[in-house]
Amino acid sequence: MTERYFDYAATTPIDDGVIQDMLAHMGRDSTFGNPASASHSYGQRARHAVEKARRQVAELVGANADNLVWTSGATESNNLALKGVAAAAQGRRHIVTSNLEHKAVLDTARQLESEGFEVTWLQPDADGLIQPEAVAAALREDTLLVSLMCVNNELGTLTDIATIGERVRQRGALFHVDAAQATGKVAIDLASLAVDLMSFSAHKSYGPKGIGALYVGERARGLIQAQIHGGGHEQGLRSGTLATHQIVGMGSAFALAGELMEEENRRIAGLGAQLREGLLSLPGVRLNGCARQRVPHTLNLCIDHPWFNVENLSRSLAFSSTSACNSASSAPSHVLLALGLDASQAYRSIRLSLGRYTKLEDVEAAIEAIRHCLPQ
Ligand SMILES: Cc1ncc(COP(=O)(O)O)c(C=O)c1O
Repeated sequence: MTERYFDYAATTPIDDGVIQDMLAHMGRDSTFGNPASASHSYGQRARHAVEKARRQVAELVGANADNLVWTSGATESNNLALKGVAAAAQGRRHIVTSNLEHKAVLDTARQLESEGFEVTWLQPDADGLIQPEAVAAALREDTLLVSLMCVNNELGTLTDIATIGERVRQRGALFHVDAAQATGKVAIDLASLAVDLMSFSAHKSYGPKGIGALYVGERARGLIQAQIHGGGHEQGLRSGTLATHQIVGMGSAFALAGELMEEENRRIAGLGAQLREGLLSLPGVRLNGCARQRVPHTLNLCIDHPWFNVENLSRSLAFSSTSACNSASSAPSHVLLALGLDASQAYRSIRLSLGRYTKLEDVEAAIEAIRHCLPQ
């Protein structure tokens, strides 16, 4: 039996063209030099490739390339944003985030809490959304930073970062957005958003694992301190030899995401709607999270039937029963608990995520496989 891949929110395969671009920056006949070796052509060519990739990433998100710092992924970007701003803080000690965030933000905020920062943990509304009014009500004179995600990795729900950003800016705090799940799915224009810091990851958008970036806008410059020291790379914000091949892969994947976005999103919206309608017509199946304010790529469903067994389904479908990004733990999803589900409903919930290579036959097979797991 073919195991159909429905876990694009956990990771995506690297696009074939992206792999070719990466290969051209690895071997001895390629651009393998150290981008920091400015004195010879090997280094200069590698630097050129890194800067091209920076422009490609910047282009997808409407940023200035000079405002992007390479990291090892969105986990590190989130750590740098939160800890870096906290380390540079003068006076302000209050941070606002939500119970729906990825562990890379939750655990980092908890760490800062243990170091004496005060954290307000926002609860989502019944739809799993963090409303701008809730954020505005939490803001204080001493609020340093607000950190929220753009697209929720478990639910696929969308946060209104444009409105929230305006509210945060009015109060003089910085706004960090984790956009790991958003690139290639929603249009992002940092030039017009009141966002100061934004985290990106390559492997959610058909690029390689282990590479990401943090956007540090002009307002945040000087208000953030490096968390990795050693050589002063990346304008002193993140030291370490740049991984040319990974960076080239991220640039190439993001350029492709920009080219394909409209067409790909139209196709996935069609497939996502078919999957959603097919599954919601089955007995006991409910959608977790808002039905409207979402991307079509990620569906989270509670299969509220005592006989339903997630294990049976995992023989035919590759999906996540809790956030794959958290699968170091088998605890019920903190996101679903925050939404008001009890532990047993959370355990009977599944996340199906679609992507570039999902076909209609995969969608049909998924509906059939889930139907098969329910009483006839
Ligand atoms: C919303 C979100 N933030 C951060 C991460 C972590 O990204 P990375 O794997 O690049 O560290 C993920 C996925 O794992 C994610 O979905």
